[in-house]
Amino acid sequence: MTQPRHFLDFDGIDAATLRATIDRARTLKGRNGAAPLVGKTLAAIFESPSTRTRVSFEVAMDELGGKTITMTAADMQLGRGETIEDTARVLSRYVDAIALRTRSHETLLALADGASVPVINALSDRSHPCQLVADVMTYEEYRGPIEGRTVAWLGDGNNMAATWVQTAAHCGFSLRLACPAAYPPPREIVAWAKERGADIEVGTDVASAVTGADCVVTDTWVSLHDDPARKGNVSFEPFRVDEAVMAMAAPDAIFMHCLPAKRGCEVTDAVLDGPQSVVLDEAANRVPAQKAILLWCLEGG
Ligand code: CP
Ligand code: NVA
Repeated sequence: MTQPRHFLDFDGIDAATLRATIDRARTLKGRNGAAPLVGKTLAAIFESPSTRTRVSFEVAMDELGGKTITMTAADMQLGRGETIEDTARVLSRYVDAIALRTRSHETLLALADGASVPVINALSDRSHPCQLVADVMTYEEYRGPIEGRTVAWLGDGNNMAATWVQTAAHCGFSLRLACPAAYPPPREIVAWAKERGADIEVGTDVASAVTGADCVVTDTWVSLHDDPARKGNVSFEPFRVDEAVMAMAAPDAIFMHCLPAKRGCEVTDAVLDGPQSVVLDEAANRVPAQKAILLWCLEGG
């Protein structure tokens, strides 16, 4: 039997596939009259809240002629203890692809193991690959090829940071991360990227990361899978992106954030709403990015 094409994490997707997906996304904005996914259905399951990922999957499927069934885990027997493996086997009989947002990457892997249709990572505690397709696409719309450029990440070494690290290995940009000492990106993901020749520096100094960077990126200090009471904000304060931080970057640097933002924490209003911010185009590009991902998964057989 042909193995389904899962879109789980960039350590399982090669550089050529990621590049082709990003380039294809740029061709898939809006409705173009084609409906390649007529008769196809996506089940989108959310263990935790979502605005952009949920709506962009639904709009993308609709624009490609397909349908989406969106559920929270609490709506499903999954929320009452049915196993993820049984859920995978049953849903595979009904739908053509499954997207899952989960607090545990292990759950995503178990779903993919049990499913006979493609499974897409709609964000896990480990990574958010759908977002990075939209992010690289957005960078390149504004500034041309990202290869050879320098991206600075400030703040938590979280799932988004980890996915930027993986993407640096595949797309050939330099990545400088400044994170609190207690919250670096996962060591094994950085090692994986460096083994593939990625130019990555992990430290705690904001100026070293940002000076001359072509793109400054941050994300919330408290992610969906985090316990806010345990994490707190104190150690993150020095990593806030404000106008002084942006002034250290290259004069034409852009600011990116996957959203949702906690205004006044990881980024000031002046930067988020300022002339260097591309966050709304980044969010809008989630739709063509999801289309490219869905087509790649569903064309796999
Ligand atoms: N960026 C992103 O994934 O946003 P949502 O949590 O709203 O889906
Ligand atoms: N790091 C954030 C990203 C949200 C899109 C989280 O996991 O909550």
